[in-house]
Amino acid sequence: QSGERDKLIEAHELTSKLYHYLLMNTSHGQPALEYLRSRGVSDKQIDQFMIGYAPPEWDTLVRFLDKREFKAEAMEKGGLLIAKQDGSGYIDRFRDRIMFPIRNSEGKAIALAGRILGEGQPKYLNSPETMLFNKSRSLYNFHQSRAAMRKTRRAVLFEGYMDVIKAWTAGVTNGIATMGTSLTENHAMILQRNVDEVLICYDGDSAGQAAVFKTIPLLEKSGLRVLVAMLPKGMDPDEFIERKGAEAFIRETIERPVSVTKFKLIYAKKNHILLEEEGQKNYMLEAVAIIAELDSSTEREFYLKELSREFDISLESLKQDCFHHRQQHQ
Ligand code: UTP
Ligand code: MN
Ligand code: MN
Ligand code: MN
Ligand code: MN
Repeated sequence: QSGERDKLIEAHELTSKLYHYLLMNTSHGQPALEYLRSRGVSDKQIDQFMIGYAPPEWDTLVRFLDKREFKAEAMEKGGLLIAKQDGSGYIDRFRDRIMFPIRNSEGKAIALAGRILGEGQPKYLNSPETMLFNKSRSLYNFHQSRAAMRKTRRAVLFEGYMDVIKAWTAGVTNGIATMGTSLTENHAMILQRNVDEVLICYDGDSAGQAAVFKTIPLLEKSGLRVLVAMLPKGMDPDEFIERKGAEAFIRETIERPVSVTKFKLIYAKKNHILLEEEGQKNYMLEAVAIIAELDSSTEREFYLKELSREFDISLESLKQDCFHHRQQHQ
């Protein structure tokens, strides 16, 4: 059992190194290298995250692993190879993709993610769940960010691999990401053991914002403080850094997060047409309901005052509505 695991880790370590070598030192890797550079990923980051390239052939890894006496059957179970339909052998799972090794908390490679060069589906191909890799417990970059997380007592949660990598160049060394799945209770538990606070920094598109909304209660349930970084409409952290630079990213998003309540208010606002009377009233009622959930009366008053100024409604009326809400939902 543990022998099987060690063997599979060894295979992932060697495979990651092979792909990294092919990217950096062969002509086959050249287009992938150029693609990475065009996206602003430096050689230093390529090295640090051991980014690689899986060539287009069907049997590069099959032959590489066979030569090192790994059993193809075990490698298939481990997610590196795929069994051919007709049972006549195996092929490489990852072909013509930019490869990102996924590591466990000890820094050992346990899975891989591969991005297509340019457009195409699927954009990212991840290893399947294996004896080593459980998506609902794994966080990308956890092993490298743990020291900074413990020091700052904070984690910055991103959606994607590229966000984590690009943010690292901007100085965000406590960044992590889930891998194509939403954050789970297990993820929250792992974070809670290392930090007090999580700054959610998801994509500025509607999918990203909906994911923020879903993630907040999971983190809060684990006792974590939550803050939300707001990105310009449709932009993700990696694009922000590309277009506006690392400094602007830190200054305008990481250092200017909003509270959970503020996020919920902004999120609710999008569903109402504020130019119409009905829309305004409905938003205000929803806003009061959100504010009523706060335990601290100081905080409630803070947001109610904001709302009162914004719509020129007396604080008294808002407070009364808020009070009724709290009574109803006790
Ligand atoms: P995004 O679609 O936001 O991709 O998915 P991205 O991270 O910005 O990627 P780039 O910048 O175009 O290269 C966010 C994350 O969701 C997972 C990956 O973990 C990705 O980083 N994902 C996305 C998949 O697993 N498979 C996919 O096909 C797409
Ligand atoms: Mn290197
Ligand atoms: Mn996205
Ligand atoms: Mn994205
Ligand atoms: Mn991106």
